Amino acid sequence: MTKVLVTGGTGFIGSHTVVELLQKNYEVVIIDDLSNSSESVLDSIEKIAGVKPEFEKFDLCDKNKLQDFFRRHKDIKAVIHFAAKKAVGESVDNPLLYYRNNLFSFVNLLECMLENAIKFIVFSSSCTVYGEPDYLPVDEHAPIKKAASPYGNTKQICEEILEETISANNEKLEGIALRYFNPTGAHESALIGELPIGIPNNLIPFVTQTAIGKRDKLKVFGGDYETEDGSCIRDFIHVVDLAKAHIIALERMINLKIQSPYEVFNLGTGVGYSVLDVVKTFEKVSGVKLNYEIVGRRDGDIMQMYADTNLANHELGWKAERGLEQMLDTAWKWELALKEKNK
Ligand code: WQD
Repeated sequence: MTKVLVTGGTGFIGSHTVVELLQKNYEVVIIDDLSNSSESVLDSIEKIAGVKPEFEKFDLCDKNKLQDFFRRHKDIKAVIHFAAKKAVGESVDNPLLYYRNNLFSFVNLLECMLENAIKFIVFSSSCTVYGEPDYLPVDEHAPIKKAASPYGNTKQICEEILEETISANNEKLEGIALRYFNPTGAHESALIGELPIGIPNNLIPFVTQTAIGKRDKLKVFGGDYETEDGSCIRDFIHVVDLAKAHIIALERMINLKIQSPYEVFNLGTGVGYSVLDVVKTFEKVSGVKLNYEIVGRRDGDIMQMYADTNLANHELGWKAERGLEQMLDTAWKWELALKEKNK
């Protein structure tokens, strides 16, 4: 069995990727500091995949612990790196927390990979590296703009760290950066999904928490943008589609199909939906009338962002299969399951 390290594997996208890996008979070990997830996710993963992945709780910023980990796991073939802080607003309030956590952890990981001759890494990046794009749909050659937040900047810097480290260590390291658009939805089992701690930053968890009564009202940030209905446009992508792309990227390297030592792919659907489209579609799939109010714009928001998915479609042979209704339906079923569990 091929053994894969998944950092951040108890998190939202990490847990869905671990399920896909286990269902394809990979052996998985997770490192997570549980700062934004719960160890109970491991039991849910086991219920879905029939296998409980190995798990170790520690901070990747602790180089000694990471080196000890690799001494005890000498058979790791590849790494999928999710572990990072990702709240845009929090990063603006506390930039050093983000630079320390997201950059130091990544440098430690790459150093340990080189020390242990582990050649393949899939890196969790974000469309946020594009800033406000000059053209749409945005492709991988679009200029990288000044990041709108320290969070986005850490993604840009980590991409550069990866590219330059690969270039300086050719033959020893290969990497694929996957630029996610807006990850959404949950596993069809409703056993795993997005578990925002505290008040959600992202739109969909706020929608489902409003619908279930945890939040009083959804604020739609901005109704005066130059879009059809005045609200922002985003490319929402189902988390299971996203997870499946990680396996394809991993196997592209393991099976020696990568075309250059460092590759980048957009992971989106290529379709942009507005915030108000999401509200209306959610009401349709859930049957719940959403209490919302259009308020002022949120600082740092860009007006429109959706992906040109040609490269991933043609090079990876991957295409998103789940549409907005399925994303919102699975997100809603997950919220309902959470309510049942917490009764
Ligand atoms: C989407 C739209 C909001 C909440 C960020 C990161 C990205 C990724 C996802 C990590 C915007 C509007 C939101 C609300 C609203 N991060 N909104 N009311 O900002 O596109 O992307 O999160 O994986 O890298 O940049 O996502 O869900 O916060 O916002 O009206 O209560 O929904 O204004 O237009 P965003 P988001």
